[in-house]
Amino acid sequence: MECDKNINDLKVLISEQELKNKLISLAEDIEKVFPKDEDIYVICVLKGSVMFCTDLVKHFKHPVQMEFIRISRYGNETKSTNNVHAIDLTLPNLHNKNVLIVEDIIDAGMTAKFLIDLFKMEHQPKKLVFASLLNKKCARQIDLEPDFYGFEVDDKFVVGYGLDYKGYFRNLPYIGYFPA
Ligand code: IMP
Ligand code: MG
Repeated sequence: MECDKNINDLKVLISEQELKNKLISLAEDIEKVFPKDEDIYVICVLKGSVMFCTDLVKHFKHPVQMEFIRISRYGNETKSTNNVHAIDLTLPNLHNKNVLIVEDIIDAGMTAKFLIDLFKMEHQPKKLVFASLLNKKCARQIDLEPDFYGFEVDDKFVVGYGLDYKGYFRNLPYIGYFPA
């Protein structure tokens, strides 16, 4: 194990049960904004939103097409840099489709802005909705709010349920943080 953080020091911020409960109401709210019975193209932004996205879609009643893109915001750090690094943006043509972008967390807002601009310019969807599990409002550097989010979090680095520290802790079923 090459991680400099110990799981025993981790404090639970959002429990597995709280996450589960939230997903049900969030899925219901999100689905309401899409025309009934029409396909929703769900864009899972890897790696961070893997757990949130795959759990969220389980509650959808609309027909769903899942797509996966990969973006990196941090290297091996916990501080934001201004780079959004696109690793894989391979997608079908989403022109005139209903698109839901699913992110793990909005921090400074660079990734969200990058994605929204990209979809608007390159795909021109019929409807574009942005959902994030977590919203770190106090860290925002760009004036941008997600259409939907699960929980607001303080300006602390959080891990678990897809979110990582140096690649670790994504597998945890809850969201936690390391107290300073
Ligand atoms: P932004 O571009 O600054 O909004 O950063 C968003 C991206 O940074 C997210 O998609 C995450 O992958 C990552 N990120 C931001 N804050 C955290 C955190 O507290 N824990 C883990 N990853 C984070
Ligand atoms: Mg992310």
